Amino acid sequence: MEKEIFEQPDSIRRAIRGRLKEGKIKIPSIEKIYPDRILIIGCGTSYHAGLLGKYYFEDISGIPTEVETASEFNYRSVPKEENVLAIFISQSGETADTITSLLKCRDLGYDLFTITNSVCSTLAREAGKGIYQYAGKEVSVASTKTFTSQATILLMMACYFGKAEADYISKIPELIKEVLEGNEIDDLVDSLPSRAMYASGPSLQTLEEVIFLGRQSMYPVALEASLKLKEVSYINSQAYPSGEIKHGPLALITEDTPVILFAAQNNLEKKNSSTSSEVSLRGGEVVIVRKSNQQITGKKFAEVVMPDCNDYVAPILSVIFFQLFALRVAIRKHQFENINIDKPRNLAKSVTVE
Ligand code: G6P
Repeated sequence: MEKEIFEQPDSIRRAIRGRLKEGKIKIPSIEKIYPDRILIIGCGTSYHAGLLGKYYFEDISGIPTEVETASEFNYRSVPKEENVLAIFISQSGETADTITSLLKCRDLGYDLFTITNSVCSTLAREAGKGIYQYAGKEVSVASTKTFTSQATILLMMACYFGKAEADYISKIPELIKEVLEGNEIDDLVDSLPSRAMYASGPSLQTLEEVIFLGRQSMYPVALEASLKLKEVSYINSQAYPSGEIKHGPLALITEDTPVILFAAQNNLEKKNSSTSSEVSLRGGEVVIVRKSNQQITGKKFAEVVMPDCNDYVAPILSVIFFQLFALRVAIRKHQFENINIDKPRNLAKSVTVE
């Protein structure tokens, strides 16, 4: 997992290569597609990439977009519609639920399109049209580099459909390198109270729960950060849209539960500041994830600061910080046990049964 996290500058470079020329996106497989609506389907981490894709498509290209997990989509009634582009996201290209969704969308007469890391996989073959991620083999069950390359490809597609300037995408690999070279996450893990961090053995009081919050494009980031932590550290975590915290989850806030607030969005500084205050006023320890040029007011326990970047790139950088967080916490937690972080209990890299 660690190796794959650190490969991300290169995997993103390969996702972009040949597809961005003079600030414009050139992707032959999406030329001549002009959808009225987009439907994105995936499972697990690929579903979270799809949720981020919805923000990109609606914000950059103005195309109404729905996102659904394959397992939900497969067993409900879906009204027929004209000119729908169905995008299937799957690292392996072999996930049974997603393949079933593709067959259903074919019956509905939708245009089929796959984003996958596996050349010649079932989904790639069945869709006939798509984009390969070229992220390189991903071995760790917990996906890392394939999420960020899926997100980058969705961003490029949104720029293509929206005829938007895309030069900033070429800077993503360098920005990721900066994030990976920093000490923010090691410092955060070290600064979490001793109850949390298993410093000298498993008998220490342990970190039991982490809450992740994010608005808009940062909500999928919160979901993905929470999934990563669960998968590799077995620590319970929840993710909520920040605005929902006051509708129930505030009851969970105690001084023993770190609350990670993803707030690297220029246009939402005020809203993110008020979420931070809502949590800290109840005694919660808030960790703010922000850009270097931003001010999020209110009492906070710690900050994770990323380089200044475009708002569409900030979710990608935010996820990378918390891939590292999940890994570092898991390493400390499992240090006295014989646990392979790359193969978490009960999970498989590719789920080929429904
Ligand atoms: C499994 C893996 C997850 C992955 C999901 C979807 O559950 O453990 O890490 O996100 O399948 O896989 P796919 O290959 O379709 O992206």
